[in-house]
Amino acid sequence: MPDATVKTPPTIIVIFGASGDLTARKLAPAIFNLSKDGLLPESCHLIGYGRTEMSIDSFRDYLVKSLDSYSRRTIEEETWNALSSNISFHAGAYDDLGSFEKLEEKISTIEKAIGSPAQCLFYVSTPPGVFMPILENLGASGLAKRHQGQNTASKVIIEKPFGRDLQSAHELNEVINRRFEESQVFRIDHYLGKETVQSLLVQRFANAIFEPVWNRHYVSSVQITVSEDLGVGTRGGYYDKSGAMRDMIQNHVMQLLALTAMEPPSSLDPEAIRDEKVKALKALKPLALEGDDPEVVRAVYTEGLVGGKRANGYLEEEGIPEDSFTETYTALRLSLDNWRWKGVPFYIRSGKRLAMKASEIVVQFSRPPAILFGEGKRYNVAPNLLVIRIQPNEGITLYLNTKTPGLETKLQPIKLAFGYETTFGSNTPEAYERLILDALNGDGTLFIRGDEAETSWGLLSPVLEYWAEQGRRGLESYSAGTWGPLAADKLLLKSGHEWITGKEYGQ
Ligand SMILES: NC(=O)c1ccc[n+]([C@@H]2O[C@H](COP(=O)([O-])OP(=O)(O)OC[C@H]3O[C@@H](n4cnc5c(N)ncnc54)[C@H](OP(=O)(O)O)[C@@H]3O)[C@@H](O)[C@H]2O)c1
Repeated sequence: MPDATVKTPPTIIVIFGASGDLTARKLAPAIFNLSKDGLLPESCHLIGYGRTEMSIDSFRDYLVKSLDSYSRRTIEEETWNALSSNISFHAGAYDDLGSFEKLEEKISTIEKAIGSPAQCLFYVSTPPGVFMPILENLGASGLAKRHQGQNTASKVIIEKPFGRDLQSAHELNEVINRRFEESQVFRIDHYLGKETVQSLLVQRFANAIFEPVWNRHYVSSVQITVSEDLGVGTRGGYYDKSGAMRDMIQNHVMQLLALTAMEPPSSLDPEAIRDEKVKALKALKPLALEGDDPEVVRAVYTEGLVGGKRANGYLEEEGIPEDSFTETYTALRLSLDNWRWKGVPFYIRSGKRLAMKASEIVVQFSRPPAILFGEGKRYNVAPNLLVIRIQPNEGITLYLNTKTPGLETKLQPIKLAFGYETTFGSNTPEAYERLILDALNGDGTLFIRGDEAETSWGLLSPVLEYWAEQGRRGLESYSAGTWGPLAADKLLLKSGHEWITGKEYGQ
């Protein structure tokens, strides 16, 4: 597991796509907050890389503005000064080897000035269309192989999306494997840097009460919801090429599923943990796409009321082609063919313009035997629920049944609730801080391994291919501001379940 106290060697961070939105909103704030906490190496340089020439002063101004707008804490002069003299900008194309060779010269000059070997962390933060040329050129210029085999070996963080189907993810992995060792590669999914996600392993394996019941004998279903209340906004053009399955399910939701379903790893070594996640993903059964009981639902939002105001339907949003059949909502019923989970449905869903923004995992336990308070009796025994909230209000709630006070015996579910903010205060590090620090220290626990990405795509690519063949046929709809289409409720009916996130908030 990541250890923030590991000493990191001198480092040169290079951000490809440094003039972009992600750098401004997440990467620059993360780097400066790490510096503020004294977690960056004493000698740390930052090089922005982009196609258009930018003077060092302009790049610095750009970073200052982004820190003012997006940093969770004020970056005072002392922290700024510690890094600002080590900031530079390198202009070059992403597909031009010569530009990378010049970058290599710049890095060697900085390293000579430092006076000891420095590791490079390359952050690929461009649109996915240029991931491949950047990775190829890092290889061809020799930047990928610097200090290989030592703790100063180059490292590369690759942004999402990692491919748009199995084939493209495989091709990306082929380039990576040709140019880098897997230990140098960090495929990011920022969900894995969130506190609750990190602590999922701790909750499962550091508390004796959960693991004995974390299986088909006691769990009746697992639900994972990642919902957004916003629509596509100004990013319609981008979103229309992606859709809910690629944008959310394939990465964030499948990662949450793997962490929930995996077996205990043999150690906290990153590979031991990732081996178990891959095994869980491999146990997922192919999805039934049609017939009497399909296990997949896709839908698109139509106009509706959000916060009392009329919200556009998807097809009315800016940049959406009128013949679009991109799904803004996906729900799946998955099952794992393994000893622990045989027969337990995993319901997962994600969508835009839903009733609220929420990310959570709900483990629903089986009802107790109907002897004292069970069916047919006059009591209502609700199933116990363990709700792991990733956002908003990161925390955990356990629902238990209790007797309401009074002379009559009445049962009522109550909540035992833990909130991160209430217990630990609000200023916890952002996911990107955790992840950049881990990559600097070479710890891949919270990153996706190549085979994990391909296993997840292997399950979902056939669904995307089927949808592409079907076009609009079978595409459901839901009003903006609701919890999605009726068809998604039907996925659960067979087993007598219903979606819990939403109901839990009284919606
Ligand atoms: N923004 C987010 O909140 C967010 C969240 C999660 C993941 N991501 C991922 O992070 C990566 C970067 O996102 P972003 O929002 O920062 O992207 P962006 O602003 O669209 O692009 C980043 C930079 O890449 C260069 N670029 C843009 N379009 C290009 C093109 N067609 N060909 C070559 N270079 C191009 C531009 O830099 P120059 O013109 O200076 O070269 C641009 O400033 C993407 O892969 C995205 O999927 C972003």
